[in-house]
Amino acid sequence: MIDQLTPVDRAKYAAAHCAADFVQDGMRVGLGTGSTAAWLVRRLGARVRQEGLRIIAVPTSTRTAQLAREVGINVVTLDEARWLDLTIDGADEFDAELTLIKGGGGALLQEKIVATASDQMVVITDAAKEVRTLGAFPLPVEVIPFGWQASKALVEELLSSMDVMGRKSALRMNGDQPFVTDEGNYILDLALERIGNPRQLALVLNQVPGVVENGLFVDIADQVVIGYPDGKCEMRDLSSGTAEISHAQIDLGEVQNAFSDL
Ligand code: 5RP
Repeated sequence: MIDQLTPVDRAKYAAAHCAADFVQDGMRVGLGTGSTAAWLVRRLGARVRQEGLRIIAVPTSTRTAQLAREVGINVVTLDEARWLDLTIDGADEFDAELTLIKGGGGALLQEKIVATASDQMVVITDAAKEVRTLGAFPLPVEVIPFGWQASKALVEELLSSMDVMGRKSALRMNGDQPFVTDEGNYILDLALERIGNPRQLALVLNQVPGVVENGLFVDIADQVVIGYPDGKCEMRDLSSGTAEISHAQIDLGEVQNAFSDL
């Protein structure tokens, strides 16, 4: 199976596998959404089944909830868990301060709520998502369907006074229909190219009527685990204010066995 994975998928697998070791018995864990987070969910499921790891988990999307149940993880709502010890999730871009762009998979709203309701957020990623300045990846903004075109126009007008390069936005589509989030909302993808002041942009976007949330995660992530195709992981911890770096190596041969007991 390992031969069938692309180098990027091997890197995502490595990051997820390394980060899964942060999860300890008894923890309440937020589970992210996306292909990297899916590797994490499978790995945690394997630990539950094989090691008897006891966790309760809050998924950030219906997709993740379904996968988590399939692999044997005890899934609860955020209201049942109330607060989480740790959330592990992917990202679309991250910078040196661990400011993130998220929402490529359309789950940014639940992802931000869950990550913010956690003592610690760990980002799992491959190295290509690290950028000096955020913005090459289109910034997802979740809007309610009512009057979405007015919200889009207001967002574009607002961008003219922001420190960004591009100002165009596009309604995310699913075939010939608008993409609909788990909350029944739409997503505008903003082609900004360069975001000079993510903190300011994140605050002002949420002032636009109809905007529910945006995909900028500022001061939320504490650590990043960067995976590489050869199974190496680099872990950067920013929780103390300065980046503490450590390394790990996982055995990619284990990919073969990851689902053997399912
Ligand atoms: C979903 C997200 C994902 O974490 C992000 O899109 C990264 O996805 P992947 O791990 O598949 O590259 O924010 O809303």
